[in-house]
Amino acid sequence: RERQHQLEMQQLIETFPLFAKVDEHSQEELLLLFRPKSALPGERVMRKGDRGDGMYFLSSGAVEVRLPGGAVRLEPGAFFGEMALLSGGRRTADVIAIDFCQFLVLERRDFNMFTARHPALRAAVSEMARERSQMNALN
Ligand code: CMP
Repeated sequence: RERQHQLEMQQLIETFPLFAKVDEHSQEELLLLFRPKSALPGERVMRKGDRGDGMYFLSSGAVEVRLPGGAVRLEPGAFFGEMALLSGGRRTADVIAIDFCQFLVLERRDFNMFTARHPALRAAVSEMARERSQMNALN
């Protein structure tokens, strides 16, 4: 069982390299905080203008972020929904499932609690948010 668990953790880190930034104990904690969620093709996962309820990690399937300049496709290993959590503002785009999707969701209060204790993780997520908003400002 222990071995099985280690394999699971290893897979998770392979899919989401971001998690390599935290120690093993905290990776275990993350596994407990994540809420599994799924979506059907065509389902809206996030609505522009809504309050941010959580950050989503895409473990299988694909989503499209619908932006004025066009759609951006995200694949397994990607995360989204970080921008509204970091800014305390609203969702900046609609996100639509374009396949059967499975997500791991870190709810807002867990995101705040966890990233407060892991500055390197928070910095990496912030950097991605910064790149995305910069990209959106150009389109
Ligand atoms: P948030 O604004 O909370 O909700 C919509 C999400 O879409 C946003 O967080 C980002 O995670 C994601 N997103 C916005 N712009 C882009 C982009 N240019 N490329 C990829 N993802 C984006």
